[in-house]
Amino acid sequence: MSRPENQILVIFGASGDLTKRKLIPALYALEIQGLLPEKFAIIGVSRSGLNDELFREAMEQGLEEFSDEKDKTSVSVFLQKIYYQSVDAQDSSSFIGLAGKLSELQTQLGISGNTIFYLSTPPSLYSLIPQNLAKNGLNIQNNGWKRVIIEKPFGYDLQSAIDLNNALQKDWLEDQIYRIDHYLGKETVQNVLVTRFTNGIFEPLWNRNYVHHVEITSAESIGVEKRGGYYEGSGALRDMIQNHLLQVVGLIAMEPPASLNSDAIRNETVKVLQSIRPYTAEDIIKSTIRGQYISATIKGEKHIGYREEEGVNPDSKTETYAALKFYIDNWRWGGVPFYIRTGKRLPTRVTEAVIHFKPTPHYLFAGNHSEESHNQLVIRIQPDEGILLKFGMKMPGAGFDVQTVNMDFHYSDLSIERIPAAYERLLLDSMSGDSTLFARGDAVMAAWNFLDPVLMEWKNNPCIPIHGYPAGTWGPEKADDLIDEANITWRYPCKNLSDDGIYCEL
Ligand code: BG6
Repeated sequence: MSRPENQILVIFGASGDLTKRKLIPALYALEIQGLLPEKFAIIGVSRSGLNDELFREAMEQGLEEFSDEKDKTSVSVFLQKIYYQSVDAQDSSSFIGLAGKLSELQTQLGISGNTIFYLSTPPSLYSLIPQNLAKNGLNIQNNGWKRVIIEKPFGYDLQSAIDLNNALQKDWLEDQIYRIDHYLGKETVQNVLVTRFTNGIFEPLWNRNYVHHVEITSAESIGVEKRGGYYEGSGALRDMIQNHLLQVVGLIAMEPPASLNSDAIRNETVKVLQSIRPYTAEDIIKSTIRGQYISATIKGEKHIGYREEEGVNPDSKTETYAALKFYIDNWRWGGVPFYIRTGKRLPTRVTEAVIHFKPTPHYLFAGNHSEESHNQLVIRIQPDEGILLKFGMKMPGAGFDVQTVNMDFHYSDLSIERIPAAYERLLLDSMSGDSTLFARGDAVMAAWNFLDPVLMEWKNNPCIPIHGYPAGTWGPEKADDLIDEANITWRYPCKNLSDDGIYCEL
């Protein structure tokens, strides 16, 4: 990788958690790999009245806590690249100070006008900050490019996403806007492209003729932690499915792109999202499940339910679990069900995509094979990143006893020391002007377009239950009914942990 051009990165929301936990550690990791621009500065921006020194101290503490590799010399070199400017995002005149700081640093460090503005702020500021930047001429690309990175969630529903997009596009060109989805920065998510398009053996099978169904799971063992306030207004569908999981669907289901060019890839993923069969009200009742974790004892330890979490309404209807079944109406996938699910307080943290292949047309060894007889390709996105192919093999000895065995690759087997964090890759790409791994406006709209009716129906139809599931279990038992075929269930990478088996309708 070559270093990006000289530039300044401005981070709005600099006193927030994301900056300290993810952005600064990712930038520091780029620093020690020699991947930051030769001439480079970071300006942290928030309302607090800090100065360069105090902000550097706070970032140093963040690195102490959240960076896996650090040494004193490189940390102090890196910290010297960090500056601070206080700005009230609501007040456009307060951006004059930022413009001044930018031009001062540009002169001092010999950097042209190349600037990225990273919005790591509450979503309510996603249209206001770019607007105020523009009012102060900070979007004008006369002495260098200007880019704006928008964190998720991009909108709250279809209409708000359209409004946000329109607001941004008044002052910014589409190729200046980078909508970040950190899942696209994960190595193993990018590896979906490589697995599919460098191995001649998979692509001929990657369609409705050979694939029985596709299953994508993103399970988390943590609850909502301190984010109850945010999560109440979001829920699993908005928080994980609208963005992360549908982006993974896009990569699994896309047609081979003509090239690795950003538009070529994004043209193909958007077609997938636009081809998802729209739900009718009846489909939503049959093909979607929502749940909420309730208190339970896990290995003797009591865990509170979602409604008892800080910042959560005690009568909340917000889902902490969502599972959907849907179809992609195109020639490749016609008739193949896609199942996706996500949840908090499940038994483990795992994100994986599983391609379930059809069984052989005539199975000679029925009766000799106790497990499911079809092949599965498991793409393990995290943790224990890797890829696993399950296939049947004869057990040594008399007769034809067949057992399912694994061909299993773990990234940890490679002699590389570490897998770069998603934010490292995405920050580097945005600094280099590569938007391949960022969601394009049309893809975000297509995802909302598909989910908007679900949000509406879940909100307005009292007949759609919200199932309570004990913390530490795999979500509502009802989710098993989505897969209505004999001998097929979700893949359960580990067992329920909860000692309580009480499921209920909330
Ligand atoms: C975030 C969600 O986008 O992704 C969180 O807001 C979730 O609720 C997180 O925990 C999961 O990310 P990862 O990388 O840990 O799978």
